[in-house]
Amino acid sequence: MYSPVKLFFKFIKYKWDASNARGHGVHSPFVYDFIRKVLMDQRHFYAYEKIESCRNEMLRDMRLLHVEDFGAGSRLKKTNQRTVSEIANSSLKPKKYSQLIFRIVNYYEAKNILELGTSLGITTSYLASANEQAFVYTMEGSNEIAGVAKSNFEKLQLKNITTIVGNFDDTLPQFMTSEKILDFVFVDGNHRKEPTLRYFNLLLPKIHEHSILIFDDIHWSEEMEAAWKEIQKHPQVMVTIDLFFIGLVFFRKENKAKQDFSINF
Ligand SMILES: C[S@@+](CC[C@H](N)C(=O)[O-])C[C@H]1O[C@@H](n2cnc3c(N)ncnc32)[C@H](O)[C@@H]1O
Repeated sequence: MYSPVKLFFKFIKYKWDASNARGHGVHSPFVYDFIRKVLMDQRHFYAYEKIESCRNEMLRDMRLLHVEDFGAGSRLKKTNQRTVSEIANSSLKPKKYSQLIFRIVNYYEAKNILELGTSLGITTSYLASANEQAFVYTMEGSNEIAGVAKSNFEKLQLKNITTIVGNFDDTLPQFMTSEKILDFVFVDGNHRKEPTLRYFNLLLPKIHEHSILIFDDIHWSEEMEAAWKEIQKHPQVMVTIDLFFIGLVFFRKENKAKQDFSINF
């Protein structure tokens, strides 16, 4: 992974190069609509408060968990004992991004949703609240972390979540044998090139023209940047949007030419 200083300079470069966040000069109607109706949507949804109060509880929770290391883990600690608070501080998507993910699911009415990397279930709760008719499947390798996430789903009375515990390398191929077609996938775990591309390729048969994939931490390391570039080049991918900390992938054929955007967010 890049050092914090290198990441900071990359972020400054992104801010400098990225298109203006209001969508001026963006010629794809679909992307323009996305920017105006989803990215810039400032509305406050009722679900936000409950989930953020759960996140705050996690930030104060000093319970010690045994955590299995699945490879590309946190830059903070390498031991296998961490408090819930440490996990909440270092692993969860900040609310700016979780709430954007909520708005994406809500606006495009995604129904079959998969998340790789549940952690404490904060982003999962956003996914499940964005569309109560949706089926959210979330995968987590660490049994004790998944246990905390499940109790959060109960506290938040979210009944449309199925938690699948185990290494993605086993659980994802198994999940892919089901009939399900996926409308939305958030890949937020195991940030290395080979597994990221392997998961992307495994997901493709379940993707349709209106599916949306989001990859986390696309600029986190040289490996993740290389994986992101390969995903952008894939012939089925029509539009990508780089928001620096996450990368969005669309397959819509209405966008006649392949286009990669970098948008200030
Ligand atoms: C960054 S956290 C997910 C954060 C969560 N999506 C959120 O925003 O609230 C990544 C999680 O993926 C899990 N993970 C990483 N690699 C994995 C693997 N190969 N199999 C299963 N779980 C894995 C880790 O245990 C960790 O809890």
